[in-house]
Amino acid sequence: MEALPILNNKLYVNMTGHLSQHTRNILGLQLPTDPRWVNLAAISLEAILTDHAYCEQKAALTCISYIQRYSDRKELVEELAPIVTEEWGHFRQVLTELNKRGLTLGKQRKDEYVNQLLLFQKKGGHIEDRLLDQLLTMALIEARSCERFKRLSEGLEDKYLRNFYRKFMESEAGHYTLFITLAEKYIPKEKVRARWKEWLAHEIDIMKHLELRGDRVH
Ligand SMILES: [Fe+2]
Ligand SMILES: [Fe+2]
Repeated sequence: MEALPILNNKLYVNMTGHLSQHTRNILGLQLPTDPRWVNLAAISLEAILTDHAYCEQKAALTCISYIQRYSDRKELVEELAPIVTEEWGHFRQVLTELNKRGLTLGKQRKDEYVNQLLLFQKKGGHIEDRLLDQLLTMALIEARSCERFKRLSEGLEDKYLRNFYRKFMESEAGHYTLFITLAEKYIPKEKVRARWKEWLAHEIDIMKHLELRGDRVH
């Protein structure tokens, strides 16, 4: 994975100079996380690890549900099958981390960020439009998770945890790209790009109105 979702366009251009124009146009979150978030997360480690564990679990479950829904799309099935294993592996890694620290996996919490993204998905219409939105929803969740893990990998005091989150950051960056690439296999690139822009703009709106909480990955 050569490029990460970047916090602003300037940095983004600097870091992705070697990518194709098309890829450059499609990458990039537009609103960076409030830098105070990492400090909040650091003081509620049990809560953030719990929330993170459920994020990984939901990623695995969503990939399974896409495989069931689009079982006739060979490439999608082939690409997502190993991601299920990977996300479940992530869940287990976070679980191990909780156990190691004598912490407990708490209850799953309401995921306001994801719920709001789901409201933006097209529900009716052509199946390709629904598929596009479902793939872009996942791309966006992966991108924002990646950005949050980047914050943790840079801002936490604990060196071990910084490294722990760096690996997650790299992995979720790869998933982010995969969902965009998958969308482009089934839907014309121009359409993917146009809709991705709408999703990015909508995500800014969600992020602006979302409470900054240290017990949530998003
Ligand atoms: Fe993951
Ligand atoms: Fe992921």
